[in-house]
Amino acid sequence: MSELIRIRHLSYRYPDGTTALRDVSFVMGDDERVALLGANGSGKTTLLLHLNGLLQSKTGEVELDGMPVEASNLKQIRQRVGFLFQNPDDQLFLPTVAENIAFGISKRDNGRDERVRTLLEQVGLAGLEGRNAWHLSIGEKRRASLASVLAMKVRLLVLDEPTAGLDPRGQREFGGMLDTMRLPMVIASHNLEFVRRLCTRVVVLEHGSVAADGPTETILNDKPLLLQHGLA
Ligand SMILES: Nc1ncnc2c1ncn2[C@@H]1O[C@H](COP(=O)(O)OP(=O)(O)OP(=O)(O)O)[C@@H](O)[C@H]1O
Ligand SMILES: [Mg+2]
Repeated sequence: MSELIRIRHLSYRYPDGTTALRDVSFVMGDDERVALLGANGSGKTTLLLHLNGLLQSKTGEVELDGMPVEASNLKQIRQRVGFLFQNPDDQLFLPTVAENIAFGISKRDNGRDERVRTLLEQVGLAGLEGRNAWHLSIGEKRRASLASVLAMKVRLLVLDEPTAGLDPRGQREFGGMLDTMRLPMVIASHNLEFVRRLCTRVVVLEHGSVAADGPTETILNDKPLLLQHGLA
């Protein structure tokens, strides 16, 4: 295991004065899949947005692979961190499925079309290259978004509520797909079944602070803790 993410004393306040993170510290190895749990408004999305520098705080530090997440490194950081937004419409900004996926692949790569095909197969969307990305179902959009992120050969996957809008089978299939990927992940979710299946570790946030951090089984079997945080 080597260290992938290090967060030290991170606090964050939105411009309107809302404090969303309070003194969060957290180290993650490259062999972990970490779930972020917590009630609505506990700071999960805010924390995720710091992992690729979409939000940056003046208070505390965030490092990826030993590199500070700050303006001067953003290009390298964003090549390494694949971010799957809660709303896939924020991710698919080009008209066809193929264009969205090819966007992450160098134009000089001769095998670009072939790679788009392989990625689509990998996420179970073989043959949908030419479809209008905005007309896909939510489940298909999520898969296409995942393919667009994988196209960049990332080091870390960050997923914000990846099962939102998916039916039970869609949730299981999407979880199974992620499970086959040999990538460290940070996943914000309210879906305990999904987390139990996929994640090795759980971090619970409460009002922007880390309230619990431990192995998935330990945290998810702690009923009083789950009840206390509105998770069960
Ligand atoms: N753009 C913003 N401006 C001001 N406050 C914000 C903004 N985005 C989020 N917040 C506030 O920051 C806090 C943390 O929000 P965040 O979205 O990170 O929570 P969350 O744990 O992801 O919640 P959910 O489970 O509902 O997705 C909340 O109090 C929220 O109202
Ligand atoms: Mg959120």
